[in-house]
Amino acid sequence: MCGIIGYVGGREAYPILVKGLHRLEYRGYDSAGVALCNSIGELNIYKAKGRVSDLEDFCKSKDTVGTMGIAHTRWATHGEPSNVNAHPHYSESENLALIHNGIIENYAVLKEQLLQKGYHFQSSTDTEVLVQLIEYVKELNHVDLCTAIQLALGQVVGAYAIAVIEKGNPDMMIAARKSSPLVLGIGRDEFFIASDASPIIEYTNRVIFLEDEEIAIVRRHEQPKIVTIGNVEKTREIIQLEMSLGQLEKGGYPHFMLKEIFEQPRTLRDCMRGRVNVECNNVVLSGIIDNKERFVNAKRIIILACGTSWHAGLIGEYLFEEFCRIPVEVEYSSEFRYRNPLIYPDDVVIAVSQSGETADTLAAIELAKESGAFVYGICNVVGASIPRNTHSGSYTHVGPEIGVASTKAFTAQLLVLSMMALCIAREKKTLDEKRFLKLLIELDAIPAKIESILGNNDLIQNLSNTFTYAHNFIYLGRGYNYPVALEGALKLKEISYIHAEGYPAAEMKHGPIALIDSEMPVVAIATDNGMYEKVISNIQEIKARNGRVIAVVSENDTVVKGIADYVIEVPVTEDCFDPLLTTIPLQLLSYHIAVNKRRDVDMPRNLAKSVTVE
Ligand code: G6P
Repeated sequence: MCGIIGYVGGREAYPILVKGLHRLEYRGYDSAGVALCNSIGELNIYKAKGRVSDLEDFCKSKDTVGTMGIAHTRWATHGEPSNVNAHPHYSESENLALIHNGIIENYAVLKEQLLQKGYHFQSSTDTEVLVQLIEYVKELNHVDLCTAIQLALGQVVGAYAIAVIEKGNPDMMIAARKSSPLVLGIGRDEFFIASDASPIIEYTNRVIFLEDEEIAIVRRHEQPKIVTIGNVEKTREIIQLEMSLGQLEKGGYPHFMLKEIFEQPRTLRDCMRGRVNVECNNVVLSGIIDNKERFVNAKRIIILACGTSWHAGLIGEYLFEEFCRIPVEVEYSSEFRYRNPLIYPDDVVIAVSQSGETADTLAAIELAKESGAFVYGICNVVGASIPRNTHSGSYTHVGPEIGVASTKAFTAQLLVLSMMALCIAREKKTLDEKRFLKLLIELDAIPAKIESILGNNDLIQNLSNTFTYAHNFIYLGRGYNYPVALEGALKLKEISYIHAEGYPAAEMKHGPIALIDSEMPVVAIATDNGMYEKVISNIQEIKARNGRVIAVVSENDTVVKGIADYVIEVPVTEDCFDPLLTTIPLQLLSYHIAVNKRRDVDMPRNLAKSVTVE
């Protein structure tokens, strides 16, 4: 949801900023812009509708000199994607330039007040209101830029990560955040601010994660100073990040999404490392062990998430109820936060999020904490807001996921939820030891089984050619594979723009079956598990109505192979771990269909990876 980056140091800022925007482009990609301040304090802003590469083309003939600058890649909220709505925005006098990620909720009231004071607005954005307000407050009170930002932000309702630079002041950049992420990078006599560490890591791994309502004053040749909006000085720990540059590159794959699909055997091994120990018959998640009383005594688990992470949560429900015998509710964070939910102090709330920045999930966490519940985070991005705002948690450890459609983060979320369920079951003694060991051995074998599924990539690519021009898809699954059907449909929608719906297979007859005809492809997950016979009946119902069935089946299958039009095989596993395998062919199918349709797989239209607005 918009990416921001800023630089002050000894090098030319423009190449650093543009490279950084490319790394942040997953956050938004409808327009981009840059503001540069040269050594005599001249300020230039360049903006272009479209991708960062369009901005680069536009800037080819421009003066991009300057060792300080800020830049932005946008995901439109207020005002269509256009040159004028792109950031940075100037203040009335053009003395200030500002970039913003977030939403100023009371922008309309503030804008009206500023219009009455004679201010003019070029864009339809909420952001331009903020830069005008800062200038207005600065002039009215005859204060310096930092004080003006403090005063202006005091009037703002909403979410923001901002960076501001000033004409005539080539040595200072000011950044602030509330509810939108902001990282400060500390290099050798050079400083960076960005929405996440990906554009910074090439230059330094020393970062500070700013907290809500904090402002960083970054001056050339000085250590950055951090103050709050209320002007209290803060000392923040510098963190050494372990991210590597290679994790941010495509590594020979045509798309990040394909790279991330193929990384899954390794990412799942990384996620299990030091946690699953088959020799000792043990699963150790320190976040669970350190808080085992909370989990053992939990009367209920509430899982909160959005998008793909919510699908992982649904599978978590099956896992916790089966292994730990704890009742589970799974909710969209966006619904939970506004419906006055009942939350008790002996509830355990699990927030699942790849980015750790999803605004609705963060707000839902606050609500749960206020009610005294214990809140556990499952997150991929180290140091993100969710791990910092939860009582405890587990990282998924899959490295940066750059493709907007989540793949490797999803399977790692399933793995963490599986390990959590096993760990809690051991503490609660709700699983007998033999079964526990069997499950553990099976979990350990999952990465190798995924490797064998990836070996079917060519077959799935061929299959995708047959379905590239379908207009609709239905995905069916039961039991543990029902959420996989939802996720398979979502993946296809996200990157190919084909309409797709996921259903529990038995629900077909309550409506969706009316859609079945010879034009309708139905992806049925029919692996050899407890629901096998039932799903076969559901497939028969589709075939009886001329539907075209693509079935995901177990390697030992004989029955479905005789009924379905096409089959994709996966190895046999325990029912509860089936999603870790059945998800993989659905990821590949979506990917190849989207490539056939020449979609922008890594940056599908209208989407953003990190949804920092509600
Ligand atoms: C966006 C992304 C999805 C993601 C969802 C939740 O919609 O495009 O891939 O599943 O946000 O994000 P989170 O970071 O909380 O998992």
